Amino acid sequence: MIYDGEIMTPIDFDPTNLKTLFQEIGLYSPKGKFYQQRVRKHEQVFAYINQIESALKKLSTKRPVVMVDCGCGKSYLSFILYEYCKTILNRNVKIIGIDNNPDLIDKCNKTAKELKFDQMHFFASTVGEFKIDVDVDIVYSLHACNTATDQMIAQGVALDARYIFSVSCCQHRNRKNMSQHPLKSISRFQPYKERLVDMIGDSMRALLLEHLGYGVDIFEFVAAEHTPKNIMLRGIKGTAKKYETETAMTQYKQLVELFNFSPALEDLLTLK
Ligand SMILES: C[S@@+](CC[C@H](N)C(=O)[O-])C[C@H]1O[C@@H](n2cnc3c(N)ncnc32)[C@H](O)[C@@H]1O
Repeated sequence: MIYDGEIMTPIDFDPTNLKTLFQEIGLYSPKGKFYQQRVRKHEQVFAYINQIESALKKLSTKRPVVMVDCGCGKSYLSFILYEYCKTILNRNVKIIGIDNNPDLIDKCNKTAKELKFDQMHFFASTVGEFKIDVDVDIVYSLHACNTATDQMIAQGVALDARYIFSVSCCQHRNRKNMSQHPLKSISRFQPYKERLVDMIGDSMRALLLEHLGYGVDIFEFVAAEHTPKNIMLRGIKGTAKKYETETAMTQYKQLVELFNFSPALEDLLTLK
């Protein structure tokens, strides 16, 4: 279905480039109109790029910035980010996309070729199993399902990435594990259970990252009308405060005990 309202793209792309890009990646119809079901993705993507841009400003311009999109799917975010870096920020970037759906990866590689985005490469793999042998600056994901978010954070840590950005999706594993806990009177209401699982799961991820020295912020990166899954976790290597690093593991263990969670991330990290 075609959207007949007005959508402003918040970045001053060249209109011809923008039309070609949006058509190639499937935000626009062949006639250059927004697909109704992509309007929310457009809003999420630009809000996400806003966050990545702040990180890019802190990274050296002397070499290409290497970024990894985990659970990239159709890669709307990464294609637009690449164009933005290239034409607006004038930054050399290399973007690697990983997804375990080989059809989507095939399509992304074809699109990158069509657009002549020669520093974008996509690989069919689970995030956890993928091996990268270049220095990576930023690892990110937008709605990587369930434990794919944990795999992405673990990749970020293993790759020694300076920035980790995660907007998590459904947390099936944690939801299944949350049976006996002191907030049953709240979680018996379905929407609250969902929110509680999201809050606890992401907080536990944050604590594990703080334990490893990452300074972590958790915030709404876009208005909830554009996605109910609008919480971003941003970790910056080596910026945790001393007391955060010292207390994180104790707090983490308290949450494990209270809620009976066993987050996949704990198993994927080498913890001191
Ligand atoms: C909800 S989609 C989000 C896609 C994209 N990031 C976006 O925002 O449009 C989640 C994607 O993660 C992929 N995925 C799920 N688990 C994965 C895993 N363990 N490793 C790699 N990809 C995974 C799925 O194939 C799917 O394309």
